[in-house]
Amino acid sequence: MKRLVTILILGISCIYANSQVTFDLDLQKPGASISPDMYGVFFEDINFGADGGLYAELVKNRSFEFDQPFTGWTPFGDVTVKSEKPCFDRNPNYIQMNESGLRRGTGLENEGFRKIGYKQNAAYNFSFYARSNDGGEKKFRIELVSSKEEVVGKGEILVSGNEWKKYSVSLKSAVTDAKGKLRVVLETRGVVDVDHISMFPAETWKNRENGLRKDLVEALYDLQPKVFRFPGGCIIEGNTLETRYQWKNSVGPVENRPLNENRWNYTFKHRFFPDYYQTYGLGFFEFFQLCEDLGAEPLPVVSCGLACQFESTECVEVHDLEPYIQDAIDLIEFANGPVTSKWGKVRAEMGHPEPFNMKYIAIGNEQWGEGYVERLVKFMEVFREKYPEIKIIGSSGPFSDGKDFDYLWPKMKELKVDLVDEHYYKSPDWFLKNAARYDSYDRSGPKVFAGEYAGHHETRDNNMIAAIAEAAFMTGLERNADIVRLATYAPLFAHVDAWQWKPDLIWFDNLNVVRTPNYHVQQMYARNSGTKVLPLKMNGGNITGQDGLYASSSLDETSSEIIVKVANTSPDVKEIKININGLKNPVLNNRVEITVLHSTVPEAVNTLEKPNNVAPVHTFVDAGANGFTIKAQSNAFYVCRLKLK
Ligand code: AHR
Repeated sequence: MKRLVTILILGISCIYANSQVTFDLDLQKPGASISPDMYGVFFEDINFGADGGLYAELVKNRSFEFDQPFTGWTPFGDVTVKSEKPCFDRNPNYIQMNESGLRRGTGLENEGFRKIGYKQNAAYNFSFYARSNDGGEKKFRIELVSSKEEVVGKGEILVSGNEWKKYSVSLKSAVTDAKGKLRVVLETRGVVDVDHISMFPAETWKNRENGLRKDLVEALYDLQPKVFRFPGGCIIEGNTLETRYQWKNSVGPVENRPLNENRWNYTFKHRFFPDYYQTYGLGFFEFFQLCEDLGAEPLPVVSCGLACQFESTECVEVHDLEPYIQDAIDLIEFANGPVTSKWGKVRAEMGHPEPFNMKYIAIGNEQWGEGYVERLVKFMEVFREKYPEIKIIGSSGPFSDGKDFDYLWPKMKELKVDLVDEHYYKSPDWFLKNAARYDSYDRSGPKVFAGEYAGHHETRDNNMIAAIAEAAFMTGLERNADIVRLATYAPLFAHVDAWQWKPDLIWFDNLNVVRTPNYHVQQMYARNSGTKVLPLKMNGGNITGQDGLYASSSLDETSSEIIVKVANTSPDVKEIKININGLKNPVLNNRVEITVLHSTVPEAVNTLEKPNNVAPVHTFVDAGANGFTIKAQSNAFYVCRLKLK
């Protein structure tokens, strides 16, 4: 019996092996400056990220411009689609409703984006444009309908006159329901034309009209991203050049921004979304405004004249590129130009006379080959002459290595782009093995922008295995902050009922948000960046996986704080003694603030039901005269901050 107990105790202490290691941090040798824009996000309208997501419009196909004009709508009675004498020339379709007094009535219901989410007692701003064909007054009944088919909010609109006019009414929901719908009924006999049927929650981010979903922006705001890449990704390229993202279509009055397809509607046969389009209601003005709200540098990506190279070989001839280059040049004027300039005036008319101070532009997304280089050269000639202060980002292709990557990097050096965009969607294991990726990069060429990356676990879940691997890898970005200047996880958003791609940083349904473990890692980096790299070693070497440990350190010169980041990917608890060479000033309160993201379950995820299953926890350890010690759990990421007095 005694032997059995001994064996058991030995077994347990084996599982919880508590090995000790020492890190040496040198406060006296601060290294490279960390870019103040280092950690950010990449937004693309994928997974219903804009329409049906961040953009708070609740009505799908509000302008009847989808290829099948009644997509999203269930008309009843006499409702037809017309386009003669339209209200909006660039979205010409509208509906004609003809009520002849039959009991079935005339109207239509909208299903929203995988239904409509209503909150009890919340107000909803409904509006449409209409004209009464005989000019006489016509009454409309507007109803919020629950998933139980009950009317849970209603209002009335009286239309009169035979000219197009805007009408609106505020409705209140009596219930909370994530799967409601909207009903619009013409009650008076006669013919009425109706267009742009829209409904927003009254409460949007900063309560703006044509606003953004408050809870989703709050998730971004809490992340504190310092750079914001948009609007793609593949959608800037288009599957055809005609369907590429053209920023000029995304500004000006929202009703007249022409609809475009969303290329993610049919990219994956097994995730087919024929009802996925881009209204551009969330357009470039709204993007710039959001960046300003978040305190993030805007980083727009523009088409370089190549349609998505995965899908097509369509391209603009190099000698015909001028309109594409002009579009990119005009974008700078829209963002930064004086209100007296053509595009600065458009910005001012939209409500922002002050410039947005755009500093970065990416020419092309995941482009490759000679065709890309030839086109980039043309853009660069004009940019360098007209806007030499703008930092230009070139592509290294879609993959982290290989033929295209090896061809493009030297070309980017030759062209002297400012930053090279690298993308890696890879296994967690790849991220661990690549923590030293940038240690040996050439320091004399362009800088690196890790523009799209995510750990793809075999389940493709946003789980702790992936999150901790990303955290470990990012210690390598930080250690190499002299060359790695920007980093943005991808993709950003996904609707739980309408995603095409996973993993994604933030999940949501029509009412709720889930911040993934990967989100927390990004947030821990963005909030704890520091301004200078500090050397941190274990047995004289960078900490890049020895004993399953990864670590980096920085100094925040503004707040006089030392920041140490540690990812423990080993199966063991590690007692880590962090010796700080040069710690002359005593540590404030003699304590170190610790933020830890940890789970005993490597596959742990956050869900709608358990959104905080994995979340950072705050604690303290004592600081000694020469440093401090942490007990790092397995499968955990630590940020330690000590403030010098
Ligand atoms: O982030 C999803 C897609 O991945 C992006 O659109 C594209 O750039 C990459 O292939």
